[in-house]
Amino acid sequence: MPAHIIDGKSIAAAMREDIARRVQLLPEDQRPGLAVVLIGEDPASMSYVTAKERACTAAGMHSEDIRLPVSTSQQDLLQLIDELNNRDSIHGILVQLPLPAHIDPDAVIHAIDPCKDVDAFHPENLGHMVMGSPRFLPCTPHGIVHLLQKADVPLAGAHAVIVGRSNIVGKPLANMLLQRNCNATVTVCHTGTRDLASHTLQADILVAAAGRPGLITPDMIKPGAAVIDVGVNRITDTSRKRGYRLAGDVDFAAASAVAGWITPVPGGVGPMTITMLLENTLRSAIAAAD
Ligand code: GUN
Repeated sequence: MPAHIIDGKSIAAAMREDIARRVQLLPEDQRPGLAVVLIGEDPASMSYVTAKERACTAAGMHSEDIRLPVSTSQQDLLQLIDELNNRDSIHGILVQLPLPAHIDPDAVIHAIDPCKDVDAFHPENLGHMVMGSPRFLPCTPHGIVHLLQKADVPLAGAHAVIVGRSNIVGKPLANMLLQRNCNATVTVCHTGTRDLASHTLQADILVAAAGRPGLITPDMIKPGAAVIDVGVNRITDTSRKRGYRLAGDVDFAAASAVAGWITPVPGGVGPMTITMLLENTLRSAIAAAD
């Protein structure tokens, strides 16, 4: 039987409607505000940031779009973050990564007020998450767990294998899946892993977050497994108006014949990441008013 396709777009749309409804319930002076900061003109980052701002406005939130030249100094960026930390109308601060090489991302992440850190990248928020009492959950891993739950994929006792150890996806997702509310057994694979297929074949839940198109082929998937594709790879395609198409890390067509559940790219994990950002911004605004 072909895999059940987990429709991230429609699950995200339903959640965003609910978020918009909760925003409407707040008094005007508590309207959630998100500042999105982009340094430089990386095309993929520009399109992510535009999508985040649009979603924010559509949910009835205030969105502050701050785009700065690639030459912006670290000192100027830290000063801007300090200003945003002190602005009451801003409840979430997101500095789009990656940053230009002359800016230290750790210094930037440390500078954001942990109470406005809606990415949940600050070590204080990572610590809360690891200890099982999160302030904010990181957006992409939170979106993935939500998709698995919505699709009724059994988590408790399942073996989850994550391919990729980034700070944004692999590491926090591993931690979330092993918390008691998920109760999965977790393996994290990376570029140093020997015989990747021997691990992925053990997975009840396989998460591909390596950023390598076509990395996961059907022979690497246990029949009936849930396959979550986090890859967003731009493949040159001159037949398209924009000159590229998006591909995940999974060979979707072939994997669909083996997997029990699968997420498409686009329309799987991506819309959930933005939705969880809205959720965190709303929670931050509510917490600020308490
Ligand atoms: N770059 C890629 N994904 C993300 C994300 O979730 N947040 C930020 N700030 N930068 C990113």
